[in-house]
Amino acid sequence: MTTIDKKSLIEERVNTGLLGQWYPVAKSVEVKTSRPYGAKVLGQKVVLWRDGADNIRCIEDFCPHRGAPLSYGEVHEGNIGCRYHGVIVDGDGVVVRVPAMPDCALEGRKALKSFEVTESNDCVFVYIPSVERPEAPELMLPKEMVSEDWTGFLCTSVWESNYRYALDNLADPMHGCYLHSESFTLAFGSKQDLMKLDKTENGFRIERVGQVGENFDWTEFEVHPGDMFCYLDIPYPPAAGPGGFMRIIGFVLPVDDTTCKVFFWRMREVSGVARDSWRFLYRAHLEERHWNVLEQDRVMLEGMPDDARKREMLYQHDLGVSRIRQILTRAAKSQIEAELAQTEAAE
Ligand code: FES
Ligand SMILES: [Fe+2]
Repeated sequence: MTTIDKKSLIEERVNTGLLGQWYPVAKSVEVKTSRPYGAKVLGQKVVLWRDGADNIRCIEDFCPHRGAPLSYGEVHEGNIGCRYHGVIVDGDGVVVRVPAMPDCALEGRKALKSFEVTESNDCVFVYIPSVERPEAPELMLPKEMVSEDWTGFLCTSVWESNYRYALDNLADPMHGCYLHSESFTLAFGSKQDLMKLDKTENGFRIERVGQVGENFDWTEFEVHPGDMFCYLDIPYPPAAGPGGFMRIIGFVLPVDDTTCKVFFWRMREVSGVARDSWRFLYRAHLEERHWNVLEQDRVMLEGMPDDARKREMLYQHDLGVSRIRQILTRAAKSQIEAELAQTEAAE
């Protein structure tokens, strides 16, 4: 294998999305016992459903008979039945029954890949294995998502752009006071600054040098062996009522090369009565405003060409963008090398 080939494999892996990661794929409420849910993760179609015994199952969305999407089918006693000719497959990807054909040899065959699933904070996460990490490591969640003191709402949105753009956007706090300058919460602070980047225990923090707490002034990324997320604060202007900032926690799912799905938890550290009143206020007034801000990001990213990086001209503010790209490239390199070593060993 030449260096050029390896380089393009790495670039392709970054573009498709890293393996060996837990990805959020759906809101909990979307995955039901009654009906299968089809999703796409890193360009692969998968189907999820609840088996009635409190487990969410996830297998390839491909009927072993002739390839019909199993997500068009139905859930039968915890298994999934294909809509086309009725073949029944279980959550391990094994053909349980071929109802149209007596004693069919397909019965009992493991035909499909199955994926590990976990559920937390109203969200369903699926583990996509890699050669380096075939078994799922623990899903590491931000502290706000495992604490009783925080409460929040998950919002998801599908964007017609590669997931790298969503990550770049999150690693770029300076866009807040420009792209979102008309918005209720992000209209404050100065429009000129320098950025600084610091290493943290599990990742990095990118922040504006000249101001903190006035706008979207910093982002922290945490990179764990099996997942990656970021968080940032949106200050509440006095008009939004009492109580500090709102924390946004972001995960991004690479759906396929040209689509991603963002998962944002909007969280606050509030308890007791304040918690209930914030939850009410959020639903009644704030949610719509936050949607408007998110739409500004979506429209901007969808408008950028897929290969913008080939002719972009970065400047000092893009420290965070460069850092996140470096993290992805390093991880992709190590995955590709592990795969090549495995192929070589097999030859
Ligand atoms: S394709 Fe699914 S049963 Fe035939
Ligand atoms: Fe934004």
